Amino acid sequence: MNFPKHLTGLKDLNKDVMENIFSLTAEYKKKILTREKSYPDLKNFTVLNLFFENSTRTRVSFELAEKLLNMKVVNFNADVSSLSKGESILDTVRNLEAMRFDFIVSRSTEINFPEFLIKYTTSQIVNAGDGTNEHPTQGLLDIFTIKENFKELIDLKICIVGDVSHSRVAMSNIYGLQHYGAQISVCGPDYFIPKDIKKLGLSVCDNIDDAIKENDVLIMLRIQNERGAGEMIKSLDDYKKLYGLNKKRIEQNPDILLLHPGPWNTGVEVEEDVLDLPNTKFFEQVTNGLAVKLALFTLMTKNN
Ligand code: CP
Repeated sequence: MNFPKHLTGLKDLNKDVMENIFSLTAEYKKKILTREKSYPDLKNFTVLNLFFENSTRTRVSFELAEKLLNMKVVNFNADVSSLSKGESILDTVRNLEAMRFDFIVSRSTEINFPEFLIKYTTSQIVNAGDGTNEHPTQGLLDIFTIKENFKELIDLKICIVGDVSHSRVAMSNIYGLQHYGAQISVCGPDYFIPKDIKKLGLSVCDNIDDAIKENDVLIMLRIQNERGAGEMIKSLDDYKKLYGLNKKRIEQNPDILLLHPGPWNTGVEVEEDVLDLPNTKFFEQVTNGLAVKLALFTLMTKNN
């Protein structure tokens, strides 16, 4: 199978390609858990981690995956770059292209920044988040985590709860899960639900208790204050009453699977008492994220 040259999003990613990633992800996850470091040797590949937004899980797991695969890794630090001297993003990218990186992993506030990089560089581009558009590696690791827990995704009921309108994680999960025929809904106040959500075939639930009772999986989302979401909330207490997850509420559906891409705001969308429940996969998602990235580079270098 031909693997795409770039990973910009899950909207147009073929389900067979996703399955290919997941079968290698499962193999690599076993190696991570046993600390066995026998991965393909990608020493001939250079990679630039070009992050213009802060990150813990995504940036660290990309860098670790790249180093476990023996790639030559360079981390771009915007704060100490010549952007501070007034150099434009376009000129920055043109200069980075002059060094002919094989891969660029990018995170940006700008929607379609990966497409901009595809236009101005010859590197293979991996999107690590572009504005509110997509976060495909998060979508892949979330779907892999769901697949580990359910035999079939077709007609599985999955609800995305919280600040959906500012969430690229929500979009990548929606696109990716729709390839599998899952029944997806969203739950949150009106101002956090994208206006055209019904055009995507999603239903809307207006409180977390119903979402817990009616679904197999909840994907909890953080309120994205950095995108102005906090200012839309009139009362945080009212928000928690309707959309906050806690241990007591989960008793309404003890089998429900709980995901969160992180970072989570403890005491806002999730309470601390949720973290230790067997339903909660937040940390396992991070392990799966490393395995997904190992699989992704292995496949992207093999077929291109
Ligand atoms: N899930 C996620 O993208 O987390 P970071 O912003 O810490 O990378």
